[in-house]
Amino acid sequence: MPAADAHGAARGALDATRRHQSAQLALVYGMNGSGAIEMRGEGARVLLSDGRTALDFGSYAVTLLGQRHPAVLAAVRRELDAMPVSTRVLANPTTARLAERLAAWGDPGRLTKVWLGANGCDAVEAALKLARLATGRTRVVAVEGAYHGKSLGALAATWNPRYRRGLDPLLGGVTHVAADPAAVPRAFADGDVAAVLVEPVQGEGGVRPLEPDFLRALAAAAHAHGAFLIADEIQTGLRRCGPRLVSTGLGLEPDAVLLGKALGGGVQPLCAVLATPELYAPLTADPFAHTTTFSGYPLGAAAGLAALTAVEALAPRGEVLAGLFSAGLDRIAADHRGLVTRVRGLGLLWGVEFATPAAAGHVLMELGRTGLVVSPCLARPEVLRLLPPLVASDAEAEEALAILGSVCAGVPEEFRPAGGRGQGSG
Ligand SMILES: Cc1ncc(COP(=O)(O)O)c(C=O)c1O
Repeated sequence: MPAADAHGAARGALDATRRHQSAQLALVYGMNGSGAIEMRGEGARVLLSDGRTALDFGSYAVTLLGQRHPAVLAAVRRELDAMPVSTRVLANPTTARLAERLAAWGDPGRLTKVWLGANGCDAVEAALKLARLATGRTRVVAVEGAYHGKSLGALAATWNPRYRRGLDPLLGGVTHVAADPAAVPRAFADGDVAAVLVEPVQGEGGVRPLEPDFLRALAAAAHAHGAFLIADEIQTGLRRCGPRLVSTGLGLEPDAVLLGKALGGGVQPLCAVLATPELYAPLTADPFAHTTTFSGYPLGAAAGLAALTAVEALAPRGEVLAGLFSAGLDRIAADHRGLVTRVRGLGLLWGVEFATPAAAGHVLMELGRTGLVVSPCLARPEVLRLLPPLVASDAEAEEALAILGSVCAGVPEEFRPAGGRGQGSG
């Protein structure tokens, strides 16, 4: 596209966003892209309207396979030519194959039942309904700092008051427990717990890996009280953190695992609940107890099948990238002590914590300007989330780290805590 047309397209898109979606959103998009907009995705990169490219180490964890992974695109194209949506009164071979594959993929022999949806919060809603129906109980135990989505049911389990304000009464009976083994017994003291819902690594909550001892205490209490343990791996699963699933990797034996985000291969929206027959019993008894029109739609299922194959093929590459990235971030933290206060993460999910939200905001904007897209954390504005895709080359990972390092070095004095200008940051 000629430069003048691309510039006009960017202005038009930002203007329409401002007029019809949100002026605040248009402002943020404009600042992150320095006035440019996204035009095309290609592997680990996004092409912008002003001709620049940016590394996509963000996209809120959706692009684990990068942008437009060729095998996922090919599968989706094949399904487009066959049957992208289902009649929903006939069995669909692609949907059935995805259910079968997921049942064999997550925790084979245990999580043998599968419900499919689109957004992550669909999976949360379905799992909470199943737990209530299967137990006849009402309460849900979630964890302080948790993020499970913003639909009304899921929102009750999400911790951040910013998103809950003005919406009471939400789904009742949700207790948030501190991430401390000593706090667990109190959460079960009143009984009636249908489900424990937990992210093994809190993503939106600032990339906070929960201590295995806490997770084990929570899982043990859930099982001792006859409550279902639901691992929300919408962000952490599918090898984002290394193992297929963090929860089963820790031996937690969840009764359900929730997948989303990257499950559609970065091409289609897709989520899944992988559940034990006991938790799934209400849907076995009545498959119409929880339905959505597009649940299991073949186009998404085709993307999911291709994504699972691609993720497994890239698993060894993920280990290499994780090591490279972890070492690089440690170096950046050491070089910018005072400005970067902590680096936390696992596999390809990393949080860089800055001294203040303003510093993180400045870095986010400068990264966008310099060519690195990352994701902020909705509940912790001082933390930026870096989500390298499995398809990134070593050179692209090093480039991302170099951009982050140089942006940190250029953070002006006013965004730094007094006396916090670290070595090597000058
Ligand atoms: C752990 C977790 N659960 C649930 C959700 C909600 O998913 P969605 O935004 O696709 O509804 C998210 C989204 O960020 C998430 O990170």
